[in-house]
Parts: sequence; structure tokens; C-alpha cells
Amino acid sequence: MILPLLCSVLCFVTINSYQLDNFQLIADIVNSKKTTWTAENTFPSHITPSGFKTLLGVKTAIGRLQVMKKSPLADSEVPLEFDSRKQWPRCVTIGHIQDQGNCAAGWAIATAGAFSDRLCIGRNGSYRALLSSEQLLACCDGFGQGCQSGSVEDAWEFIQTHGIVSGGDYKSERGCQPYEIEPCNHRGKNLTFPDCSTQPQRKTPRCIRRCTNRNYEGRYNKDHHKSVSSFSIFDDAIEIQKEIVSRGPVEAIMYIFSDFFTYKSGIYHYITGEYLGDQAVRIIGWGTENGTDFWIVANSWNTEWGEAGFFRIKRGINACGIESYISGGIPEV
Ligand SMILES: *[C@@H]1O[C@H](CO)[C@@H](O)[C@H](O)[C@H]1NC(C)=O
Ligand SMILES: *[C@@H]1O[C@H](CO)[C@@H](O)[C@H](O)[C@H]1NC(C)=O
Ligand SMILES: *[C@@H]1O[C@H](CO)[C@@H](O)[C@H](O)[C@H]1NC(C)=O
Repeated sequence: MILPLLCSVLCFVTINSYQLDNFQLIADIVNSKKTTWTAENTFPSHITPSGFKTLLGVKTAIGRLQVMKKSPLADSEVPLEFDSRKQWPRCVTIGHIQDQGNCAAGWAIATAGAFSDRLCIGRNGSYRALLSSEQLLACCDGFGQGCQSGSVEDAWEFIQTHGIVSGGDYKSERGCQPYEIEPCNHRGKNLTFPDCSTQPQRKTPRCIRRCTNRNYEGRYNKDHHKSVSSFSIFDDAIEIQKEIVSRGPVEAIMYIFSDFFTYKSGIYHYITGEYLGDQAVRIIGWGTENGTDFWIVANSWNTEWGEAGFFRIKRGINACGIESYISGGIPEV
């Protein structure tokens, strides 16, 4: 939890909380506002927002990462619209959406994802693999609580000191350590996945010091990729934009309220429902639609959720705290 903002969130929630724990009611309230986003409830009535708390959890220790120096770019060099997928088309991890399963692994997925993008960009597209969120999830929390919540600083420092191997999606047989937790149903649509909210949270996988994918040709000891430094940026939309333009996607942490689970499309901002926890996500770009400024952000609830796994959220107003604590790493190239 981000301490300086704790009060503002708690006060906010106390005033605004309707104690709604019903997706249909929430979706109806959002859609009745005719705002910049639309909601959709696709869950049966026994599935409730509070059941999804097991997907949320990020630990932070503000001050541990070095604050990024002001960018040398002029404000006029920040484009009005920017999409890292189009800027660096060879870096396919930027457009890739993962599924955390029923585990609060957002912190590991957003860190490994942002670092994969940054490494590819730093190497001018010559390295394109997805790095292993599994390794971060299993190995960089001394207490084995990765599926309950994990530290973004630990994750970035792990990449800096230890390095991170290649990975892939569940059962993808790609990379040295692919993700070991099965996808789950985040949207009530695809019944081939087990339901996320009514099953127990998955256990944190065991830390293994070899490649778990037997078909992988690389060697564990030689497969590690490191950063030369890790950084943070606080609540400054322009500095965040300059960093993305220069070196690619960054990690952000946001407060999740129940209405976020009903997000279907458009530019999200909080409307109604309880605060459920924090989620780490990956900001890849920005734009403006009908006069509303937004960020383009990757979540890790598979491609059935939101805008094919991405969402847009209001930019420049620190919506849900998303601009308040940005982090990233600079790859060794
Ligand atoms: C912008 O306006 C168009 C046309 O009215 C509408 O379809 C779209 O949903 C609007 N977008 C937002 C983010 O409000
Ligand atoms: C980066 O890659 C592109 C496409 O392969 C190539 O045209 C360009 O020269 C490369 N730039 C550098 C600095 O190596
Ligand atoms: C459901 O998920 C499975 C497994 O990823 C996929 O093959 C299938 O196309 C999905 N079905 C729908 C309706 O999205």
C-alpha cells in the first residue's frame, strides 16, 4: 500500500462506497452515467467482486528505488499520441497479454513484461523473448508469499543483481521457465477456464534453479538478463511519457475498485464500488479521445478481459493512483 495516498483513498472510499458486492448493480450504475467507459456483467449472480481479492496484492517500499533524473527531452518532444506497439513493432512482447491465474502475481508479470519490452527495445529488436514472471514470482520473495503479494522493488533489484531467464505462458513450452499457474476465468465468458473467484488462491510456485522447460535449448546459467539500474518516477505524467518514449513501457501500481472488473471498453475512471486491493500493470502508451486524455495499459487477466486484455484510463489526474509510483529498469545491452 502506498502510504502517502492511504488517507486519500480511505476517505474517498468511506464517502463513496455503496458496499456494492454485485456485478450487475455495478455495471448498471456505470452504464447509467453514460461516461467515457462502458461496463458489462458477464458473471452469474453467485460470482461477486470481493471473490476476486485473491488476484490483488502489491508491496512497495517507497524510496528504495532511485528516482529517475529529469529527462533531457523538451515537453514539445512528447507526442500527442504514442503506442509502443507501433513504435517498436519487432518487440512483440509489448502487445502480449498474460494471465496471472488465481494468484496475485501482477507485480511479477508487470515487472517481467516491462523488462522484456525494454530489453528488446534496448537491443533494437534483436532479442524478442518474454522474460520469466515465473522466476520472479517464485524466487524473489524470501517468504514464499509471491501469490499473496510481492514487492516491485524486490523484483527490479532481483533483475539488477541476479538477472532473469526467459519464460512464456502456461503450457507454452517457451523459454527457460514458463508460467506454471493455469489461466482462470476473469470475465465469466470462457467456461473452458476454471473460475478465478470461487477457487482457493494458488500456492506460490517453488523456486527452481534450472530450466523447467525440457525442450528449451538454452542453459539456465547462461540465460540470465540483467539491468544496469532500476528507477522510480513519482506522479508526473510528462516525465512518465518521456521515459516511455525514450526506453519503452513502465510498470505502474493502481488501486482496484469493484467496478474495474466490469470494465468492457473506453477510458476508465472510478465510478462505484469498494476498494479491493492493488494491482501492478504495464503502461505502454497514451492518447486523447473526444477530449479525454488516457493511458494505454496492459493488465494480466488474459485477452478476454477489457480491450483484448488492455484498458485505457484517464491520464494526468493520477486516476486510481496509477501515476503515483512508476518503476522500471534500464537493460544491460
Ligand atoms: C467518443 O465519441 C464517440 C462518438 O460519439 C463514441 O462512440 C465513443 O465511445 C466516445 N469515446 C469516449 C472515450 O467517450
Ligand atoms: C535497428 O534495426 C533496424 C531494423 O533491422 C535497422 O534498420 C537499424 O539500422 C538498426 N539500428 C541500429 C542502431 O542498429
Ligand atoms: C476459450 O479458451 C480456450 C483456451 O485458451 C480457447 O481455445 C477458446 O477459443 C476460448 N473460447 C472462447 C469462446 O473464447
